[in-house]
Amino acid sequence: MKQISDPGEFQRLCQVYRSQGLSIGLVPTMGALHSGHGELIKAARKRSDVVVLSIFVNPLQFDNSNDLVNYPVTLQADLEFASSLGVDVVFLPSRDQMHPEPVMIRVEVGKIAEILEGKSRPGHFSGVATVVAKLFILAGECEAYFGEKDFQQLAIISRMVDEMHFPVEIAGVPIVRDSDGLALSSRNLRLSKDQKKAALALSRALFSAKAVISDGLRDVSSVESVMVTELKRPIAGVSKADYPVLDYALVVDQATLIRPDRIDRPVRLVIAAWVGDVRLIDNLGIDISH
Ligand code: PAF
Repeated sequence: MKQISDPGEFQRLCQVYRSQGLSIGLVPTMGALHSGHGELIKAARKRSDVVVLSIFVNPLQFDNSNDLVNYPVTLQADLEFASSLGVDVVFLPSRDQMHPEPVMIRVEVGKIAEILEGKSRPGHFSGVATVVAKLFILAGECEAYFGEKDFQQLAIISRMVDEMHFPVEIAGVPIVRDSDGLALSSRNLRLSKDQKKAALALSRALFSAKAVISDGLRDVSSVESVMVTELKRPIAGVSKADYPVLDYALVVDQATLIRPDRIDRPVRLVIAAWVGDVRLIDNLGIDISH
């Protein structure tokens, strides 16, 4: 497994691979790799000839400097994990190599960045789009793998690729769930046993909404009410202090994230709630043509 930190060297290496007729699968990460990243790497390993993993804790996407300082760095374990899954190249730029100071250029993202997760994180998606655009320019023509768990991030990056004509094919990798439905997330580790039980309300709300849509319900407000009711349902054996506190439960257009009035196109059910001091998100795709 090659390790490269110089952006120019990384760009040249990707050009060499392409000139040899090899396809490149790019998996952008901020390190602290877990099984969710493992799924992205495995998807890339299946489809692409050369798997390139980037590890870069991107300061531009942190709205809170404490979160940046406290972001876990587990480089040695990450390298061992990447190597065990057959990654070919790890790109590890320094902060100054990726974003030479003073940073004067950023990708501006429109209204799609101000809703849902963006509401409480001003500038976050602009920071994500900026670093991902740089990675796409360096990697060149490639397939790039992102988790569907961060659905708004995936939608914004897909839109950026379309609007900015990057020669990149975006592959969304489905959410991995525990057998009880809980979407896997490194944040789950911070939940107590009771809070974990309470957190199941998120996926239950999504699957209840899916069921009423399958039964023919198309009115978006009514579907959203089903999710809210399910999320607020009493949970046996769990104290009220651990109940989820809803931020949003919405039906949005799959590509633009705009909320339609009726379900007459592919949509995404999206939900976010606090359990204790842990913010959880989940989502589910619905395509009524299937
Ligand atoms: O999802 C992440 O880990 C980050 O937002 C990404 C896409 C690697 C950009 O820094």
